[in-house]
Amino acid sequence: MLVRIKPEDAAIGMFIHAFEGSWFDHPFWTKHFRIETAEQLARIRSSSIDAVVIDQSRSEVTPVDEPAAEPAPIRFLRAERSPRPIRSEPVVFGNPSGPPRDEPRSRPGYDAERRRAGQIIDKSRIAVVDMFETARLGRAIEARRMAPLARSIGKSIERDARALINLVRLKEKDEYTYLHSVAVCALMMNFGRHLGLDEDVVQDLGVAGLLHDVGKVAIADEILNKNGGLSAGELHSVRGHPDAGRQLLESSPGVPDAALEVSLRHHEKVDGSGYPGGLKGDELSLFARMGAICDVYDAVTSDRPYKNAWAPCDALTEMQSWTGHFDEPLLAKFADSLGIYAIGTLVRLSTGELGIVMGNAGEACETVVVRVFFDCETLLECEPFDRPIAPSAENPRITGRDSPTFWRFPDWDAMRFRVMAAQLT
Ligand SMILES: [Fe+2]
Repeated sequence: MLVRIKPEDAAIGMFIHAFEGSWFDHPFWTKHFRIETAEQLARIRSSSIDAVVIDQSRSEVTPVDEPAAEPAPIRFLRAERSPRPIRSEPVVFGNPSGPPRDEPRSRPGYDAERRRAGQIIDKSRIAVVDMFETARLGRAIEARRMAPLARSIGKSIERDARALINLVRLKEKDEYTYLHSVAVCALMMNFGRHLGLDEDVVQDLGVAGLLHDVGKVAIADEILNKNGGLSAGELHSVRGHPDAGRQLLESSPGVPDAALEVSLRHHEKVDGSGYPGGLKGDELSLFARMGAICDVYDAVTSDRPYKNAWAPCDALTEMQSWTGHFDEPLLAKFADSLGIYAIGTLVRLSTGELGIVMGNAGEACETVVVRVFFDCETLLECEPFDRPIAPSAENPRITGRDSPTFWRFPDWDAMRFRVMAAQLT
């Protein structure tokens, strides 16, 4: 028997048959599963979906006594809630029974994958340089040569996405043009998988990433690498590269449609102020919107002739503030796909603690610093302290963003400000 309930009335033990509402809002990429952890429950309760359809026959918890079979109208039913913290007493700092600050445990595969990723990047660089040279000479691009490259990049990010994506971000300024293509390939494939797209589509998106900027061969190197503002004529030349790329790819055999679309549309913006078409909103395909996000994210997190790289958390924080540039819900999904969070985001750790993202640390900015302030077991605040979390860390790690509403923090903005401004002892 199927019944519909509000997301906030979901409970551990219920078997999810379906989510209702926009597929984009539901917090999982599979619809059929039993809610088994507090984290899953928190994600469902804090999601924007309209309703959850529960299969009573497969649930350990019965949400209703009179289940309604489809297509009955939605009945919002109240299930047993797990206790949630409600704080009215003064904040308790220095809680002596707070969580132990364990030594971090490493994820064994990360370092090995980083070495393999280095080899893949080296090979990719050679292939992409060759592809750009072919285009520069006016010859047809052999798109079929890009497919195995995308496959091998796709396998690396399947084993551990952060290894290759973190490594390719560290490109030298003079190799940006080529390795930017490799980076966008990896970001697009990782993003596509996170969105639950078919693997065939994911592979095409990888090829799209490799080919998206091939139109830059029409731009003079001195303009591409200029350290300063561009004249009107130079700007016109730069803005012509999506059209030039599309023309090059259309005259080459075997280029996937996704690559044609991304090469032409990756500089469009959702408010219509982008180029070359000035398309906006729904006029922009999913691939175009994904391309715009991946392209800018890699650009701003890479060293360029005219600016130094931003750390991932800073980049995401900035990108989220550019109203009208990106598809905002899609940008949030992109951040989730990489496990990066804007500064100030509430996150849950595998240690059962809540913390606030403070930024990145380390030479390559790969480490995320989380300011821990709350213990989910005792439901008490603890004295804030910073936990640096390396991408190679298995535990503690960030398990996902969390909802201040779920935890019933009475004034989240004030609480966040207080924690982030706290002087650490
Ligand atoms: Fe571009």
